[in-house]
Amino acid sequence: MHEFRYVNGRLHCEGIAVEKLVRRYGTPLYVYSQRTIEGHFQRLDAALAPVDHLVCFAVKANSNLAILRALANCGSGFDIVSAGELRRVADAGGDPGKCVFAGVGKTEEEIALALRLGIYCFNVESEPELARINRVAGRLRKQAPVAVRVNPNVDAGTHAKITTGTYENKFGIAFEQVGGVYARARRLKNLRLRGLQMHIGSQLTEVKPFALAVRKVAPLAAELHSQYGFDFFSIGGGLGIVYRPALASGAAAWWRKPSARGILTPSSYAAAVLPYLQPLGLRLLIEPGRFIVGNAGLLVTRVEYVKRTGRKNFVIVDAAMNDLIRPAFYDSYHEIAPLRRKGGAVVASDVVGPICESGDYFCKDRPLPKVGEGDLLALLSAGAYGSVMGSNYNSRGFPPEILVNGNRAAVVRERQPVEKIWELESIPAWLRRAGSRRSPRRR
Ligand code: LLP
Repeated sequence: MHEFRYVNGRLHCEGIAVEKLVRRYGTPLYVYSQRTIEGHFQRLDAALAPVDHLVCFAVKANSNLAILRALANCGSGFDIVSAGELRRVADAGGDPGKCVFAGVGKTEEEIALALRLGIYCFNVESEPELARINRVAGRLRKQAPVAVRVNPNVDAGTHAKITTGTYENKFGIAFEQVGGVYARARRLKNLRLRGLQMHIGSQLTEVKPFALAVRKVAPLAAELHSQYGFDFFSIGGGLGIVYRPALASGAAAWWRKPSARGILTPSSYAAAVLPYLQPLGLRLLIEPGRFIVGNAGLLVTRVEYVKRTGRKNFVIVDAAMNDLIRPAFYDSYHEIAPLRRKGGAVVASDVVGPICESGDYFCKDRPLPKVGEGDLLALLSAGAYGSVMGSNYNSRGFPPEILVNGNRAAVVRERQPVEKIWELESIPAWLRRAGSRRSPRRR
């Protein structure tokens, strides 16, 4: 479900033609639909209504302040993994009291900040981490709320780089060991055992692995709840979205209803997990990232050249792997749609960026409408793990981000001027010989 569609042959985001945004802000350009983000949040929230619950948006998926604020306004909590993310949430007007802090490597400073801001809970990944949180809490004279992340050893059947719930992964504490860990944690007097957490992987497109994991872990949650008086059970994030169109014909099929293709929906997800959770009488937490923002954003790029080699049709665009790394990193599929709907011939094309690496591509041999220099293309479903995974590789500045709400659009991140890329760099004195150029920072 999303708010991108063709109106009179022009791709629109809600009430605005994306081309119009390009005229104003140039390319590459990220465009987000606020209504789509809110709609996803609300549908998930409503599906979980039968139980006391809190949806904690996984900030790592998209941490733009405006998006965090829109979600905070909807009542969202947040799943954070660093002091930086926590500070962003607070700056955006989110409630630290609704934040859960995950991650295997929390530093003392991060733990102290989280305690000072009063987060909801630490999701703890190891015993040394429990000991460290206890120590820092003691120093600050606080009680630290903690939940252990249980690794249920369930294969989520997703991409190897984003699966987390098996014993091959660095995450969580093995299912069999969790009981002992809580028993020892109880003796640490600055901790409050508040819940149990798990997360089995990302981009799961079927409900089955969720149901298997919840069925396996729910009895453990019930047992620990009765022993320690827990508040909550978090079943993590990982709800997948539709990246591939039903037809390999460019843009046409992108907005079919996901449910029509048997994909995971808020209601099928809720129907799969709630029967195991309802009897527990615990508060349910979930930590979706991609599901909320993935289909709510696109990256617009301009065709610079079309290069035919006899073997290949390379469409060279002005966006690159530094703007959207998912195809290069995970071989992931992002649908590519022209901003002006095109009929006619399709050509098997490689859409590639200007970076000097063969991995800098968005698709290979994909049938796409014929395009030429100056044409505008949208890389769809780029709202999650898009801009946040960007880099300045090849000294390319970050693209601007635009948030659309109905007929309004606002720049929610400006294009990064290239000089800002090396702003924190300097040339040491011994390299600055007399007569040579002065330090660029004193120019
Ligand atoms: N909770 C925990 C503990 C996580 O590790 C993650 C994601 C989430 C929640 C949110 O997962 P989501 O609902 O967004 O699937 N960069 C990769 C995805 C990495 C996911 C890492 N952990 C990608 O572009 O596909």
